[in-house]
Amino acid sequence: MDETVQDLLVRLYTHHNLEKEQFVFILDHLDDESKKMLFELANKTRIEHYGRRVFMRGLIEFSNLCKQDCLYCGIRKSNKTVDRYRLSFADILACCEEGYNLGYRTFVLQSGEDFWFSTERMSELIRLIKKQYEDVAITLSVGERSYETYQAWYEAGASRYLLRHETASPALYAAMHPTMTFANRRACLANLKQIGYQIGAGFMVGLPEQTHEDLALDLLYIAQLQPHMIGIGPFIPHHATPLADSKGGTVDDTLVMVALARLIVPDGLLPATTAIGSLHPRGRELALQAGANVVMPNLSPIMVREKYELYENKICTGDESAACRACIEVRISAAGYTVDMQRGDSTRITPLRFF
Ligand code: 5AD
Ligand code: FES
Repeated sequence: MDETVQDLLVRLYTHHNLEKEQFVFILDHLDDESKKMLFELANKTRIEHYGRRVFMRGLIEFSNLCKQDCLYCGIRKSNKTVDRYRLSFADILACCEEGYNLGYRTFVLQSGEDFWFSTERMSELIRLIKKQYEDVAITLSVGERSYETYQAWYEAGASRYLLRHETASPALYAAMHPTMTFANRRACLANLKQIGYQIGAGFMVGLPEQTHEDLALDLLYIAQLQPHMIGIGPFIPHHATPLADSKGGTVDDTLVMVALARLIVPDGLLPATTAIGSLHPRGRELALQAGANVVMPNLSPIMVREKYELYENKICTGDESAACRACIEVRISAAGYTVDMQRGDSTRITPLRFF
């Protein structure tokens, strides 16, 4: 390679994409000094696009039933030790009420792939929330459905959809997802984008056997798809899954991928994920300093928090929503940023698009 890692980082900062081999070269050769430079460039890029604001999303984990069997996931269908729950509409609306009063203007409705929430039922729920809270944005994160279903939910008032691609390596994807296909995952993301959602893709760092080449594929996919949001977190082994004895991802490797994603999608919404916060006491703060600009504090009822255990030692499971709201504000300020409670649309979206 003619160029050094630092040359490549400057090129990425300016042009927002590289060749696959160049990404692999960076990942293979990143030393402490170039890592520092990477984080500085990422933070600079983020400040150019979003200032020091950090957007807040209220996360409501409304069902942990799931028909899929992803090897890494604690709520996979085969895990018979999970205490399954499904919140009622009234419970979900109560979470929204609490969240609204705490200042949240975005709700992320997340669940396992629970088809009790049919096209119609989910549409009704979306309409109920939009009727009650006209100025909120609704984000869905409920997995793979048909084009028609996504369309119906969009028409009901959902405007954003999170569906991580999980890994852009076809072989690794196949190994991790016995009940799903790589092709359908991508088709779902393409459908969501076509319908008009602000979409969120993303991946895990440190999956078993994941190579730098695989991670380079994740970056190329992000560059090509240009999602509005990109969720990147470390894989954390869960004791009741087939990957219980795996090593898992590291904070450092995850921060590098967050920073590279910021350079590739400068106007991206990048969450400082709960997973990175669960691996390190200041994980989310470090992610903000590496280019992240969103946090998603939990609004789920305290009674169910521990049951939505995708991975081990998840943070915030014992904390009331109000406590998380206060806690995260202190953390954001201490890291040198400010809380922004607005809807927090991607700057790519024109101000005319309101729902
Ligand atoms: N470790 C880290 N992240 C996980 N997810 C699921 N299981 C784990 C795990 N064990 C992530 C997936 C999913 C998101 C909701 O949580 O990327 O898309
Ligand atoms: Fe939940 Fe700190 S954000 S306790």
